[in-house]
Amino acid sequence: MINSKTIDSKIIVALDYADAKSALQLVEQLNPNLCKLKIGNELFTAAGPQLVEFIVDKGFKVFLDLKFHDIPNTVAKACMAASNLGVWMLNVHASGGIPMMQAAREAVDKTNHKPYLIAVTVLTSLDQVTFNQLGINSPIEAQVLNLAKLTQQAGLDGVVCSAMEAYIIRKQLGKDFYLVTPGIRLNHTSLVNHDDQSRVVTPQDALNNGASYLVMGRPITQALDPLKTLEAIFQEIA
Ligand code: C5P
Repeated sequence: MINSKTIDSKIIVALDYADAKSALQLVEQLNPNLCKLKIGNELFTAAGPQLVEFIVDKGFKVFLDLKFHDIPNTVAKACMAASNLGVWMLNVHASGGIPMMQAAREAVDKTNHKPYLIAVTVLTSLDQVTFNQLGINSPIEAQVLNLAKLTQQAGLDGVVCSAMEAYIIRKQLGKDFYLVTPGIRLNHTSLVNHDDQSRVVTPQDALNNGASYLVMGRPITQALDPLKTLEAIFQEIA
C-alpha cells in the first residue's frame, strides 16, 4: 500500500461504468490519497447524485464531468446543483461562450463548496479532419488556445485539453491555470491502440508538458489489475 498522505495525487480515475455496483467495486479498492475520481455522463445518468454524494462522503475528491453546454441561466443553475453535491471540480464547455462561463462562475461562487470550475476546449477524441468538418478552419491547437484564453478571461480555474496542447497553454496562460488532460495512454505501444481517443500522450510526457492532472479511464479500469496499474503509474510519476 502506498503511503501518500501528504501528496495531492495527479491522477483522476474516470469511473466510466454502466452502474453504481461496478463503479463501487473499483472504488472500494482505492484510497483518496492515491487518486481523485471522475464521474461522467454514463455513470451519473445511471446512478444519479446519490452516488456522487456517497463517493464524496468516502473522502474522495470528485470531478463531476458533465460538460454543461446550454444557455447561461440553465448552465448556472446546473453548476449550482452540482456544486451542492460537494464535488471538488466540475466543468462546462468553453464553446458556450464567455457569458455562459461567467454565469457558471457566479453561480458556483454563491455556493458553500466552491469547487474548481473548468471548461472543455476541444474534445481529445477529435482529430484535425473531424474538427474541420465542424466548419472551423483553424488548426486544433489554435482553437484550443483561443478557448483557453476565453476561459481564463471568464474567470474560470482552468481547462480540459489534450496534453499535446498543454505546453503552449501553460506557457501563455501561466502557472496558476489548471490543465486537466484526458487522452492519456500508458506507453508507446498502447499509443498505437488508443480506443476512440485521437490526441494521446503518456503520463510522464503529459506532466512534462505542464498538465496539472491526468484523467485516466480505460488504461486503469480495463487493466487486469486496476489497483496495481494505478499504483505503478502513481510511483512512476511521483
Ligand atoms: O478511457 P479514457 O482514458 O479514454 O477516458 C477518458 C475520460 O476523459 C472519459 O471519461 C472522457 O469522457 C473524458 N474526457 C475526454 N476528453 C475530453 C473531456 C473528457 O476524454 N475533452
